[in-house]
Amino acid sequence: MADPRDVLAQRVTAALGAAFGPAHAGADPLIRPSAFADFQSNAALPLARQLGRPPREVAAELAGHLDVTGVADPPEVSGPGFINFTLAADWIAAQAQSQLADQRLGSPAADPSQRVVVDYSGPNVAKELHVGHLRATVVGDAVVRILEYLGHAVVREAHLGDWGTPFGMLIEHVLDIGEEATYDQLAAGEITAFYQAARAKFTADPAFADRARRRVARLQAGDDETMRLWQVLVADSMAYLTATYKRLRVTLTSDDMAPESFYNPLLADVCKELEADGIAVMSEGALCAFPPGFTGRDGAPLPLILRKSDGGYGYGTTDVAAIRHRLVDQHANRIIYVVGSEQSQHLQMVFAVAREAGWLTGGARAEHAVIGMVTGADGKRLKTREGEQVKLAALLDEAEERAAAVIADRYEDPARREQIAEAVGIGAVKYGDLSVARDSSYAFDFDRMLALTGNTGPYLQYATTRIRSIFRRAGLDPDAAQGQVRIGEPAERALALALLGFGSALGQSAEDAEPHRLAAFLFDVASAFTTFYEECPVLQAPDEATRESRLALSALTLRVLSAGLGLLGVPVPERM
Ligand code: ARG
Repeated sequence: MADPRDVLAQRVTAALGAAFGPAHAGADPLIRPSAFADFQSNAALPLARQLGRPPREVAAELAGHLDVTGVADPPEVSGPGFINFTLAADWIAAQAQSQLADQRLGSPAADPSQRVVVDYSGPNVAKELHVGHLRATVVGDAVVRILEYLGHAVVREAHLGDWGTPFGMLIEHVLDIGEEATYDQLAAGEITAFYQAARAKFTADPAFADRARRRVARLQAGDDETMRLWQVLVADSMAYLTATYKRLRVTLTSDDMAPESFYNPLLADVCKELEADGIAVMSEGALCAFPPGFTGRDGAPLPLILRKSDGGYGYGTTDVAAIRHRLVDQHANRIIYVVGSEQSQHLQMVFAVAREAGWLTGGARAEHAVIGMVTGADGKRLKTREGEQVKLAALLDEAEERAAAVIADRYEDPARREQIAEAVGIGAVKYGDLSVARDSSYAFDFDRMLALTGNTGPYLQYATTRIRSIFRRAGLDPDAAQGQVRIGEPAERALALALLGFGSALGQSAEDAEPHRLAAFLFDVASAFTTFYEECPVLQAPDEATRESRLALSALTLRVLSAGLGLLGVPVPERM
């Protein structure tokens, strides 16, 4: 099967060469959705500017060279110089037919396949996951799934914050309360309380603060007993993190941690290398890189601090060592940092240093997939009434409770209800997040996320269950449907055409690390299906051929929606 955008692009490219010579064959065919047809090409507009000719005239000449026989009606020039395409119903039907027969549902595997490191979630030991981590986790996981589906070799890496001065006070607190109590608290997610108790003693009790500082020194020196206690903290936090990832249905496991401590032994060498290359210089007692193009308010070059004047290393040093490791040792072609917008400048400086150092060369890419803020109704960072960070677990609990209320009257069996409420609740929160462009902020709103209509998780889940119920009533297996697709009604045409966009939706989502594009595509498909369902009786179709075709279109819709939701990490319950 072929995506109409790709086919039209090829034809326009051929016509560009034929009409204006090979020099113009490389121009972007600029295929876009059209208000008056299915698609349009805007290629004539920039070309006319280049040639200094009227755009409609250039468009007419281009259209004269276009061969779309069998694919679309003869192209029409419209507006300032657009070329409009209306696809032929038979062509759409044939494409839908082969999409139905295709395991990959018309999304070709990426060629070449790349090695991609995705740095996401950004958890910290002895810190609770809050709603800010939700996005960096859920978006990163969708990006990972999409890239893997397209055939890329993906390395999941959570840059776990497990090192630094707070560990002195945290370890002393473990000694005070005991290892068992530590486990009980951390694994159960009572992490903020644990952290705050340590912090409170640190500020109030000078003797404790003193012990904490000595403990940091022993940690840095690699003292055995200190390392063991530190490991207890890490392991207890991992128990909490893995449980939460599992609950969130996120594919991160403890094997995917690339903790800060891992880079610790590499830091001195990285500093040495950068200093030898002249990229890092001493400034006021600290070793710093001053990547070009970064200046402070006063116009002075901004430093990325690599070694503090006390000899210690920091967050920046670790990130520089991490990017070196990813590019030089792991041979990544692409690194995607799914991290909050407040770390933008930091990451851009790290990338700039990697470029200067010659690690980020050739076709390799490092990119910051910026994550925006989750806010309350007031547009400010989401907080509890007490002004604290909203715990992820509390949020998920509430989502499940509310989802249970939504579906309560439909299920007698409490176990079943709970199972579906879980899928709907978690799905609603994840989809609510994934449907928003990842770099814009959004207001967290249960009512919006759980609505059964509109661009929501439950709406999409519900569309799949409706299709399943059609097949149940017919006594048929949707996975086996392979009937002949015919396009008659406008709603059939619109649905089939929407479905053909799966490949490009995935391609775009992968290229820009933007899962919301896939979400928007799925919503389009579900909306087209809703109209189809209202206007085109499936089981009561006027004749057997139409019924077979409508069943085939329904089955294809189910497969595309299920696959797409799966790639977003949104569960698809069989009934709702
Ligand atoms: N743990 C960090 C934080 O809580 C996020 C890590 C992001 N990734 C990175 N390579 N810096 O802010």
